[in-house]
Amino acid sequence: MISPELRYELIHVWGRLRGLRIVNVGLLSKTETRNRPYQWADLQHWCISVYDQLWAYAIASGGGVSPLDVLEIGCGQGIGLTRLARANPGIRFIGLDLSRAACIFARLSGADARHGRSQKLPFDSEAFDSVFSIESLFIFENPETALAEIRRVLKTGGRLISAEFALGALDDIRHDITAKAAASGLRLVGMVDQTADARRSIVDGEPQRDLFHRKVPSYFRARFRETLSLKGTRRYETWLNGSRRYYFAVFEAV
Ligand SMILES: C[S@@+](CC[C@H](N)C(=O)[O-])C[C@H]1O[C@@H](n2cnc3c(N)ncnc32)[C@H](O)[C@@H]1O
Repeated sequence: MISPELRYELIHVWGRLRGLRIVNVGLLSKTETRNRPYQWADLQHWCISVYDQLWAYAIASGGGVSPLDVLEIGCGQGIGLTRLARANPGIRFIGLDLSRAACIFARLSGADARHGRSQKLPFDSEAFDSVFSIESLFIFENPETALAEIRRVLKTGGRLISAEFALGALDDIRHDITAKAAASGLRLVGMVDQTADARRSIVDGEPQRDLFHRKVPSYFRARFRETLSLKGTRRYETWLNGSRRYYFAVFEAV
């Protein structure tokens, strides 16, 4: 059994070599669907789309503090972070990731990326106006510790904006994340269901993910099938049967 640290190092190093630079479920809207085979570049575009849409949602949901200092937890190779930084020149974006390799790649892309763990953030208290996180927060080990750390580094009135997937009905997920966040002084102020677009990305992009999967070293291939939600995996089934949901959530530091 390999440690999460080593697993993420391998994912990022191997992914970089093979063109997998951004690693999330992706969102494919109905209006974007086409009648032609998708390419790997299409999937990467759907992954970038999570950043664009989450940022738009964060802006639309307002907040008392303007986002001048923004931290992304689990920034990976910094693709989304550098995109947001370019589009918002007045805002300081900092990324943090568990993988040293991801941080190096992120810096090569021009991001200010720091190596560290969400459970012990290497930042002063009240250093950030916003923290955002894509498919990381509630998936980490000890999400409660990570939430307490996020609350510590957020200014009061600041926002945590997160894109996540989880099993269960949306109301049950809402109940669960509300309770976990409240224990750390974070109040859920908005949540939006993105399951249909996430499912489209998983289902329509499956052949391309499968092609990518064949390039994974054989030793890791079995494990990676689940991560990529390929046909025949439990994850793929849960996307198809609607038991896995994808959502954006915004919390306020109280
Ligand atoms: C699903 S990937 C998402 C990466 C990126 N946000 C994206 O959308 O492409 C999760 C990321 O979180 C990082 N990660 C995992 N556990 C972490 C932890 N405890 N602290 C900080 N980062 C972590 C991984 O290295 C990985 O880059």
